[in-house]
Amino acid sequence: MTESTTAAGDRRALGAEHGSYHWGDSLALLEGVPDGSVRAVVCSPPFEGPQLIADEDRAGACSSDWLMPFFGQFERVLRPDGCVAFELGGLWLSDAPGKAVQHAGAVHALAKAGWRLVQDFYYYNPQLLNPEPEGAARAPDSVTPIWVMARTHDVHYDVSALRHPARAPFVRGNLLEFDTSGVYDRAYEKTLAETSLHPYVDRWPTVVPELFVELLTRPGDLVLDPFAGSGATCFAAERLGRRWLGFELDRGLEQHVRAMFAARRAG
Ligand SMILES: C[S@@+](CC[C@H](N)C(=O)[O-])C[C@H]1O[C@@H](n2cnc3c(N)ncnc32)[C@H](O)[C@@H]1O
Repeated sequence: MTESTTAAGDRRALGAEHGSYHWGDSLALLEGVPDGSVRAVVCSPPFEGPQLIADEDRAGACSSDWLMPFFGQFERVLRPDGCVAFELGGLWLSDAPGKAVQHAGAVHALAKAGWRLVQDFYYYNPQLLNPEPEGAARAPDSVTPIWVMARTHDVHYDVSALRHPARAPFVRGNLLEFDTSGVYDRAYEKTLAETSLHPYVDRWPTVVPELFVELLTRPGDLVLDPFAGSGATCFAAERLGRRWLGFELDRGLEQHVRAMFAARRAG
């Protein structure tokens, strides 16, 4: 990857052939993205928003308040037929044997603000989800929802992406039954192991963003991940020949992004 630095010598961005990954608060960084330039936002925001879901925010009002300004920017930067595909599921409460509905609250708030639900997908993800709270007898979660929302229902949506032969056995309607037990991103994991780091715990396997990039964009389109983490969406977009932008708050993830893109060099 290429890199650019600030005058003080801090790394500001990492780049590859089709895009760049920037550190900072994505609300601020989004202001630099031109109007109508993005075909799809593909992301996994923090489920809890700015704080852990607790008594005072079980319905997720606080999470929605946090998320809405990002969607204000998404509306501005998206092309008229562009979509946001975002992963957002319910969280187990830390102090009671049940779950918060902050994700439902956020989807409802978006619908009230004029966003249309194009489709909801369910991503089979038993490895990454928190088990039920200690001592409570509940079935552990095995799916997380991925919401595809837009300003109109008339969006670019290439249904043939769902029938791609490499993917078709795992796509059961809107249930994405990929085997997420590490088979897809071994090169990333191997490169990371050389630096004694563990895979990023909040990462989604690249097969997941890859599907949404193919479904919602054309080659050459611009894909944005404002919560870019390990760079999985950015890497998927790079491999698919889409232009991309990744924004991320946590500078500690640099080795993860480098390891993700090293997989390309390794073939
Ligand atoms: C669920 S993780 C995303 C993981 C990513 N999809 C991946 O595969 O690695 C959410 C990420 O959003 C980042 N984040 C939270 N608030 C942010 C903000 N305001 N601007 C940029 N990044 C933010 C967190 O640091 C975290 O890495």
